[in-house]
Amino acid sequence: MTLAPVGRTLTPMNVCDATPLRPPTLTLVHRGRLRRLTDVPPDRTLLALLRDDLGLTSVKEGCASGDCGACTVAVADRAPDGTLRWRALNSCIRLAHAAHGCAVWTAEDLTRDPLITRHGALHPAQQALVDAHGTQCGFCTPGFVMSLFVRYQRRGPDSPLTHPLTREEALQALSGNLCRCTGYRPILDAAQAMTALPPAAVDEAALDALLAEAAREEADADPASDAAAAYWAPRELRDLLIARARWPQARLVAGTTDAGLWITQQRQRLPQVLDVTRCAALQRIESVRDTDGTQVLRIGAAATLHDAFAALQRHWPTLQGFFERFAGQPIRYGGTLGGNVANGSPIGDSMPLLIALGAAVVLLRWDGSAIAERRLPLEDFYRGYRQTDLAPDEIVGYVEVALGDGSALPDVVAHKVSKRFEDDISAVCLAVALWRDREGRVAEVRIGAGGVAAVPARARRTEAALRGQPWCAQTVRAAAEVLQAEFEPLSDGRASAEYRRALLGSLLWRTWLQSADPAPDMPIRLDEPDPWHTLAQAVVEART
Ligand code: FES
Ligand code: FES
Repeated sequence: MTLAPVGRTLTPMNVCDATPLRPPTLTLVHRGRLRRLTDVPPDRTLLALLRDDLGLTSVKEGCASGDCGACTVAVADRAPDGTLRWRALNSCIRLAHAAHGCAVWTAEDLTRDPLITRHGALHPAQQALVDAHGTQCGFCTPGFVMSLFVRYQRRGPDSPLTHPLTREEALQALSGNLCRCTGYRPILDAAQAMTALPPAAVDEAALDALLAEAAREEADADPASDAAAAYWAPRELRDLLIARARWPQARLVAGTTDAGLWITQQRQRLPQVLDVTRCAALQRIESVRDTDGTQVLRIGAAATLHDAFAALQRHWPTLQGFFERFAGQPIRYGGTLGGNVANGSPIGDSMPLLIALGAAVVLLRWDGSAIAERRLPLEDFYRGYRQTDLAPDEIVGYVEVALGDGSALPDVVAHKVSKRFEDDISAVCLAVALWRDREGRVAEVRIGAGGVAAVPARARRTEAALRGQPWCAQTVRAAAEVLQAEFEPLSDGRASAEYRRALLGSLLWRTWLQSADPAPDMPIRLDEPDPWHTLAQAVVEART
C-alpha cells in the first residue's frame, strides 16, 4: 500500500471541521470467525468496544489506566519475525483500532471459541482458579484468567505446556493483575497447577488462516480515502512519514500505555490518529554496523518494551531484575520503547538507563522525495517538562545503543525505587554505566537519572567527579555528595524532595556495593540473593 505523494490533490482534513473523519472498517478474529465493525471512532478503547459494543461484559473496568489488570484480554497476531505472538494487554488503554487484524479473547470466549479444543468446558486457567479457591468477589478474576491463558499459550522452553510454572514465573505472568480480596497465594497456586489439568489447545492452523484473511482485507483498504485518514497504521515506513507530513495535527501513537490515559482520565478526544506500531521497519530490532564499523543495537520505535528489554538483556543480563520492575507484563507487551522515549516523561524508567548506555535517538521525516534522518544523543532530545526536539513532521524512528566490538561493554547497574515492587512509578530511578581500567580506576562513566528533574537527565558533574578516580568507597562517597547537589528534585505524592535527594546518594553507594570486589569487612553484599535478610541477621546477631 502506498500513499499519494504529499501535495497531490489530497489535502489534510481540518480536524476542527464539524464533519468527523470516517474511520476504517475494524476487523477482528473472534470466536473462530472474522468480525467486521464499522464506524468505530478512532479514539474508542478496546475495552469500550468489547464491553459496550459487543456485550462481552466479563471484561471489567477498574482503574482505566493500565494499573489493575481487570480489563486484561488476550491478543494474538503475527510477531515481526512472522511467528504467532500471544500477548495479554490492558484493553482499557488500548485503542480498538490497534486490534485490527488481530485475534482477541475475553474470559467468556474461552468456553465458546470453536478454535479451542475442549471448548464448552472451563479452560485449565479457569479450572485451576476454581480448584485453588483463587477468587472471592470475582471482579479481578477475568483479568487473571486472561493473563494465565496467555502464559499457557506462550511457546518456548519455559512454556507451561512443557513444564509447570515456577513461583517466580507465575509472579511475572501475573505482575499486571491486582486482587483486593482473595490474596495472591491461591492465585499463584492456580498458576502453577493449571498444567496438571487436562490440556486445552488452540487450533493454530485455523487461527493462522483467519489472521491471514484479516491481513488481506487490510491490504485492500484505500489509503487515499478520508476513511483511512481517521485512523491510519501504515505498514510501510515511507507511507507513515508521508502521512506524518500530510497530517501533522493527527495524534501520533504507539502502544498507547500513556496516550490511552488522555482518553480515559483527561477525557480528550482524538479525532485523527496515526499509529506507528504496524510499520514493519520500526518493529525490527537488529544489530547494524555504524559508519566506523562498530556494532550498534538498533531498536525500532514500534518494538515492544518486552522485546526491546530482551534485546538489551542479552548484552547486560544483570538488568533482568530492573526490566521486571517496569510496570507489569501487559504494559511491557503493549508499550513500545519508542513511545516511552518520545513521551518524555521525567519518570519514565527506560530513559535513565538509555542515557547511561549512551543511546542516540534517530528522528525520521519525509523530505519530499526520500527519508531524512536526524540523530541526537538521547539526553539532548529533551527540552523541558514533556517537551522534546521532535518537529511536527518527524517521528522517533529508532533508539540506537553502541556496542563497540562487544569486548568493552560497561558494567551497568540500574535502580528503581517505588512504593510497590512492580506495576508502579519510580520515585527515583538511577542507572550507571561504568568502565574500569586494569588498575581499578574509572576509565569512563555515564549516569542517567529519573524523577529528579523536569526531564530524564544525565548527571554530568557526578560523572566528572568519578572519571579517572579509583573506584573505591572514598571516591563514591564524594561523588554521592556531588550527585545529591546536582539536581533539584520536587516533592510530590510519591516522595519528598529530601527523600529523593537522599536516594540519589544511597543508590550510587549501592552501585558501588554491588560492583566492588568484596572487602573483608564489608557487612553486606548486595549481590546476594536476599541481602536484606543477611543484614537483618547481622543486626540481630549484633544485638544479642
Ligand atoms: Fe485497570 Fe485496565 S481497568 S488496567
Ligand atoms: Fe475480589 Fe480479586 S477476587 S478483587
